[in-house]
Amino acid sequence: MFFSSSSLFLFLILSSIFSFGFSNRTITNYTFLIREATIKDIKQSFERNQLTSRQLVQYYLREIARLNGLLKGIIEVNPDALLQADAADKERKCKVNGSLPDLHGIPILLKDNIATKDKLNTTAGSFALLGSVVPRDAGVVEKLRKAGAIILGKASLSEWANFRSTTAPSGFSPRSGQGKNPYVLSATPCGSSSGSAISVAANLVTVSLGTETDGSILCPSSFNSVVGLKPTVGLTSRAGAFQLLQDRTPLG
Ligand SMILES: *[C@@H]1O[C@H](CO)[C@@H](O)[C@H](O)[C@H]1NC(C)=O
Ligand SMILES: *[C@@H]1O[C@H](CO)[C@@H](O)[C@H](O)[C@H]1NC(C)=O
Ligand SMILES: *[C@@H]1O[C@H](CO)[C@@H](O)[C@H](O)[C@H]1NC(C)=O
Ligand SMILES: *[C@@H]1O[C@H](CO)[C@@H](O)[C@H](O)[C@H]1NC(C)=O
Repeated sequence: MFFSSSSLFLFLILSSIFSFGFSNRTITNYTFLIREATIKDIKQSFERNQLTSRQLVQYYLREIARLNGLLKGIIEVNPDALLQADAADKERKCKVNGSLPDLHGIPILLKDNIATKDKLNTTAGSFALLGSVVPRDAGVVEKLRKAGAIILGKASLSEWANFRSTTAPSGFSPRSGQGKNPYVLSATPCGSSSGSAISVAANLVTVSLGTETDGSILCPSSFNSVVGLKPTVGLTSRAGAFQLLQDRTPLG
């Protein structure tokens, strides 16, 4: 099941929200560390004027340029990510602390089977869908935008969420090449939400979304040492994501 996990819709809140806790920064002298920062850390740093969304996005873009050629966790970067960051920074200046939506100015990566009606392609990793036009944002993407998130790009995956073939390697798609487990490059990253997990593990983004029918969030999360949530089917919208089993595949 691990290696043939099909997948689809989900809300993958990987490491960020959960890595709070036992480091010095949350206990006594607060020093913001951009690597491994949680959403909560980032929001505090925004409020304290220690960090802007532009700086955060620039950091990730640099890390993607440095590491993605090797790790192949990301298929496309949103050419509008910095514009969205600037808009968030501008808006933050005019608002009082705590009045902004939950993910305001936070970069998020979406598995490549989750539709976005913007400059990004939605291809499930396949050249067959390159250049196709989706009718609208997926339901979860609509919500993310309302919550203020910055769409950083599209994550790689096992092509067609691993419905391409029963023998295709996990984390491989023609558009990305073979995604790598950042901890052990020769080990599988598992799939099919491989890029979503690889990218969070390697600090290429704060959080990401994947989809799962049977193991496609949980397996890559575990293999890449990040936290993954597979919500109960129905708790998150499944509209606008490519999936084999519409009634069994949540986004997370
Ligand atoms: C916490 O502080 C101790 C001593 O001040 C230091 O040795 C340790 O590396 C710090 N841990 C982290 C996660 O910063
Ligand atoms: C926190 O640490 C920094 C540098 O390590 C130091 O300059 C600052 O005085 C410390 N602040 C507090 C409140 O301890
Ligand atoms: C927000 O809170 C921080 C401290 O947490 C404070 O320095 C800053 O002035 C506050 N900003 C506004 C607009 O209230
Ligand atoms: C989407 O695909 C087209 C090719 O059809 C490519 O020109 C464009 O750069 C892609 N978009 C992004 C954001 O990479």
